[in-house]
Amino acid sequence: MNFAGLASRLESIAPFHVMELAKMAAALEAQGRSIIHMGIGEPDFTAAPLVIEAAAKAMADGQMQYTSALGLPALREAISKQYRDVYSLDIAPSRIIVTAGASGALLLACAALVEKGTEVLMPDPSYPCNRHFLAAFDGIAKMIPSGPEQRFQLSEAMVREHWSAATRGVLLASPSNPTGTSIKPNELGKIVAAVREKGGFVIVDEIYQRLSYDAPPFSALSLGEDVIVINSFSKYFNMTGWRLGWLVVPPHMVPAIEKLAQNLFICASAIAQHAGIACFTPESQALFEERKMEFKRRRDYIVPALQALGFGIPVMPDGAFYVYADCAALSDDADRLTRKMLNDAGVVMVPGLDFGPYTAHSHVRVSYATSMENLREAVLRLQRYFLEQ
Ligand SMILES: Cc1ncc(COP(=O)(O)O)c(C=O)c1O
Repeated sequence: MNFAGLASRLESIAPFHVMELAKMAAALEAQGRSIIHMGIGEPDFTAAPLVIEAAAKAMADGQMQYTSALGLPALREAISKQYRDVYSLDIAPSRIIVTAGASGALLLACAALVEKGTEVLMPDPSYPCNRHFLAAFDGIAKMIPSGPEQRFQLSEAMVREHWSAATRGVLLASPSNPTGTSIKPNELGKIVAAVREKGGFVIVDEIYQRLSYDAPPFSALSLGEDVIVINSFSKYFNMTGWRLGWLVVPPHMVPAIEKLAQNLFICASAIAQHAGIACFTPESQALFEERKMEFKRRRDYIVPALQALGFGIPVMPDGAFYVYADCAALSDDADRLTRKMLNDAGVVMVPGLDFGPYTAHSHVRVSYATSMENLREAVLRLQRYFLEQ
């Protein structure tokens, strides 16, 4: 490909395959085909009623001007209160910066910490945009192959082994996209201590933290004030398109992040911020917990169903709404398999390609953020499809 006229960093930024598959699926739907979407990582639930009411009220009241670059004080207070109520953690609102989704938070953290040649360790597989956020600041994602034995996460030993003179930090997501697996708090504590020794940074993306099904709530913020945490209203709060998230940083980083936020975004959407406050009412929280239990029910259905179809799932995903399934027994090329499953069975899954080279050809990511009815129908279609092969 010819990148003439464009910055050379674009050569290391790949397109998002999940979006390519979504486009193919849309083209089939336009021809009248019925397609079941288990590709994109987006809750099928939409914003809670009180959130919608709060957005309408903000608009009716004319509360639509720029806010402070750090976010509305009432929203930062509400997020701080959530840390107290759910995690028993005292996180000062002054350390919480409201952003345009976790994506905005990742961008600000990378802008503040990454420069040319900065190497950051992350597991392979991991969320594709992470390595591209680094590339946008001329940093380098050092992706460390991580299999089911490590729950697809890094360990302290892996961090120590791969840390080089150019390494400045570690970027993890727990629970992870694409694997739905969490890092054990004890192991994360050891990683944080090892990185601290080296004077580096640890960023933990907790966007799926409140969608953890098998363990009590845990935030990496409990490991010390120096840990940087990313979060969002997209997943647990079912607000993907509202573009709202947050970043928690050590106190000394706040002025740097504020200056970046002022320049890069001015602020997150004012309407979304006013609406987001309503996520923390008891009524909305009860609804989100109900929806979380529905996700768990779907996980408990889909994991054995995929195994019965021939997919390998050696480690039970404990969070998010993904299963990272080994398809080596079904095909030697996950990309071809996902295209065939889409064309022949009308079921969308994403090939491992997006998430790093290590398991690119042997794994698919299955999103169970769709109704039980759709999941059951997808399983029936795949049973028929594999019988015909
Ligand atoms: C691990 C992870 N981090 C960040 C994001 C970006 O989310 P947001 O919509 O909050 O920008 C996603 C979205 O899928 C994700 O899975």
